[in-house]
Order: sequence, then structure tokens, then C-alpha cells
Amino acid sequence: MSQERLKRYGVYQIYPISFCDSDGDGKGDIKGILSKLDYLASIGVKNLWISPLYASPMRDMGYDISDYYAINPLFGTMEDFDRLVQEARRRDIRIIMDLVVNHTSSDHPWFQEALRSPESKYREYYIFRHGEKGRRPNNWTSSFGGSAWEPVPGEEDNYYLHLYGKEQPDLNWDNEEVYQEVKKILGFWMEKGVYGFRCDVISEIYKSSFENGRKGKISTPVGMEHFVAQPGCHLILKRLRKEVIEPRGGVLIGELYGVDQPQAEAFLDRELDTLFGFEITDTKGLFRQQMRPSDFKDVLIRWQEGVSCNGNYLENHDQHRSVGKYVQRGRNEVSGAKMLLTLLCALKGVPFFYQGEELGLVDYDRLSPEESHDVVRSFLESLLRRFALPGFLRHRLARKFGRDDARGPMPFSGIDGYGFTLPGRKPWQKFYEISPERNVEREERDPSSVLQYFRKVLSLRQSDDVLSLGTIRFLPSDKEILSFLREYGGERRYALFNLSNRSRKAPVLPGSRRSLILSNIYPAEKNSTLLPYECRLYRIDA
Ligand code: GLC
Repeated sequence: MSQERLKRYGVYQIYPISFCDSDGDGKGDIKGILSKLDYLASIGVKNLWISPLYASPMRDMGYDISDYYAINPLFGTMEDFDRLVQEARRRDIRIIMDLVVNHTSSDHPWFQEALRSPESKYREYYIFRHGEKGRRPNNWTSSFGGSAWEPVPGEEDNYYLHLYGKEQPDLNWDNEEVYQEVKKILGFWMEKGVYGFRCDVISEIYKSSFENGRKGKISTPVGMEHFVAQPGCHLILKRLRKEVIEPRGGVLIGELYGVDQPQAEAFLDRELDTLFGFEITDTKGLFRQQMRPSDFKDVLIRWQEGVSCNGNYLENHDQHRSVGKYVQRGRNEVSGAKMLLTLLCALKGVPFFYQGEELGLVDYDRLSPEESHDVVRSFLESLLRRFALPGFLRHRLARKFGRDDARGPMPFSGIDGYGFTLPGRKPWQKFYEISPERNVEREERDPSSVLQYFRKVLSLRQSDDVLSLGTIRFLPSDKEILSFLREYGGERRYALFNLSNRSRKAPVLPGSRRSLILSNIYPAEKNSTLLPYECRLYRIDA
């Protein structure tokens, strides 16, 4: 039932600091989200995932939690949160919390206590290891760069593990007490009416050995074979699901770093309802910003065929905006944005949308290192400085792997402050350099806008069993065209996507009697040419 709800309605993600600021401090907050619930309901949002709202020093923007039972004062109070859950329910919207339990913040009292006293039981909450003669315990590297081991202050040859920033020490999931703590945290929020959790880098929580890792691609951390998708991780998830999630009819969504399709599928066996992998984000090439249409097609098909309930996303707070990445900027970008949204709604699995994607927002034109807030970007800038790369190359690389581009304030209107914050106030991160048409208010009034199209295509998905629940079968086609059939209860839909920025010959369509349900091109082309980024959805009657 719960998985079906996700498949039918999809999930919309809010990055709270950039969604809506109610008090004018330049940072989004819970009251801001409350003020936009009617907007969210009006576009068809039913499952709302909110990036971390917990108390945090915000060194990794909330993915470093210092108190799992408190709301970050930056975002409001527990009363605000309770109201949010209730008000959302009134609109049939369920709240999904982010859950970050691979690591805590180094400010968390558990870690502080562990540092203060080696005898404390909290030492066992984390992963401390001795090195030898000034050498780290092993060669593992952190996803944010550099060694994954940080020296324990004041203790010779002792280190703690952090697969992310050094302010994010990894929890020790071999300790039953850690399991019990997390179980309690999940129960606490579910009792408040939270629907479920998006579990941050959940594929990495269990470390099965501390041997040296194999060195692989420069962009992937060393040591992954010892901590990605280990049997211990599956056991923990099965237990959590059975003991906390299932009795309350909730959902678990997993972010799975470093897994391939068979590994991902294993997480769907009484563990997660849906998941997302990372292959879809790989543009293949250090400097390549945009994905080749044929690579895009290839990775989509593999994850559709290999994973029974994939989470289909093209944007989130860690990625670049999809327009500019999967489709080219310029003349056809509005058709491109609509095509991508149609794709999300037509694929099998669970569609994920990220704030602003429904408007067709794009990356910043310019974002200097001084205007960046992301730890990954600042780490890369400082690392690359050592290689005497020319400044423009350094910035380009750091910007590509940095994560600021999707984190800009959401534009609700064209007035001063963009309806994100109060007029005259400065946002925490600069506004996008957008045209006056790209905001909620203007797009509401324009029948040909991305937003109006999004409403239509999402409502189609939500009302059509075939699109939300059906099987999928890909048909042979040109390498830049995606063509597939969805089928459910004897009914069939046919979907056709031109993934390229050029006109293409349309493949021969299946069925002798079919009717066009939706297309992103007005008036819909009926002939055998597909315009750049054109997509069509048909019902097949015979
Ligand atoms: C996930 C989050 C990302 C965070 C990282 C470490 O990938 O989406 O924002 O930095 O985990 O918690």
C-alpha cells in the first residue's frame, strides 16, 4: 500500500533553507513551508520529503545532526513542525523526514563525550582505530576528499572514521546500542505523524572489515568494497523495517551510494520501498557538464530493467539542475524541461521532483568560490590550488563537483525578494540570474509554461494506473530515441521521447488504433518527425 502511494503520486523534495523564508532572515523556514502548502497541494504533491530540519551546526547543511530530537532554531520550533505535519495531512500530504545515521555531527553530545573520555560507552558509538607510527589505520578516503581518518585530538596514533567531512564521524553499527538509539529516533518522529524516512547514504552504514581498499576511479572513494551494501547493512534495514516502519504503515527510501542494479534490487527485499542510485548523475568525463543522449538512454534502461521499484530523479540538492545536464540550454530548453518531467512521470518506479524543477530552473550563470557555501566545492578549490591549475580550470572543475547550483532560493514571484524572502532582504545564497518569466506567479499565468505542463503530466500519472503501476518494455529505436510500452490490467500506453536537440525520424508506432494523450509540443506533431526534445504519450486501443 505504502509503496503504491509513492509510485502513484511521486515525491517532491524541499531543501528547507532555500524554499521559503517567512521572517526575512534570508533563510527558508518551516513557517515558509506552511505558507506554501496550498501551492504544493495545487501542483499535486502528496509525499513531501524535506531535507534535514534537525539541530545541526550546518557544516554540511544539516547532514550533520547534533540532536535528532530537536528542530534547528534556524528553521523554527517543534510546534511549527507539529503544525506542518497536521496542516499537510489536512491536504493529504505526507511528510517524509531525512534520516542521517551513517554519521552524526562531531558536535553531537555522543561524540563529544566519546572524545572527552576514552572509557565512556560512547567510544563504542563511533569507529576509533589505532594507526601505526604516524600512519592512518587504512587507506580509505572520504567522499569529500582526503583520508577518511582524522586524528583524535590529544591521543597519539588514534583516529576516528569519517566517510564524509571530518565533522561527520561515522557511527558504529556493530554496536546494538546504536541500533536501539536509531530505532528510538524513528519511533519518536513516526509518533508525531511522519510518514517515513529518506535514509541518507544508507548503503554505507555497515563496515564489515577495515582492510585496505582497492584503488579505483579517482572520483570514487577508496575502501568501498568493505562498506558498501554489506550483508550487515541488509540485516539492519530488515530489522528497522519490521520493528518500526511496518507496524505504522510507513515508508523507507534509500540513497544508495556506490551500488549497481543487482545490489540495489537486494535492498527492495523487505527493506526499502524505493531507492536511488548514482549512475544517472555520471556525465562520463571530468569536464563534461552535459550527458550524451545515448548515455542517458543507456543508464535509464539499465535501471528500469534491473530494479523493480527505482526512484527516478534527475535533480536534487546534490546535483546540477537537469536542464543543462540532460538537455541543452538555449532555444529548446523549455521543451527539454517538459520532456524530462514527462519522462519522470512515464517511467516505472517512483518519480522524484526537486523544488524548482517544476519551473524549469537552471544552474547559476556564474557562481564564484566566494559565493559558494558547499563544503565539497571549498575542499576541491583548496585541493586543486596545490596542482597549479589555471584559475578558470580550477573553478570549472570545483563547480562541476560542487553542489551549490540546485541550492539557490526558490522564486515564487518576480518582485524584490522573489517571494522567497521579504523585499529588501538578502538571501543566504544568491538568487538565480533568472528571466522575469521563471517564477511561480508568472508561470501560473502562462498556459505554455513548464509549471502548467508539470501539473498536467503529474495529474495524468496520478490518475492512470498504467503509468503509475504498470510494467515497462523498451522497444528498439535509434540511440537517441527512447520508446517504451507500459501495461497494466490489459491496458497499454506507449511513450516516445526524442532525447536529442535535433529533429529525428519517429519510429514506427505500435498498435493500429492509438490516441495521443499528451505531448510537450503545441500543436502536437502527428507526423513522422520528432522535433528536438519532443515527447508523446499515447493510449493504445488495438
Ligand atoms: C548525502 C546527502 C548529501 C550529504 C551526504 C553526507 O549524499 O544528500 O547532501 O552531504 O549524504 O551526509
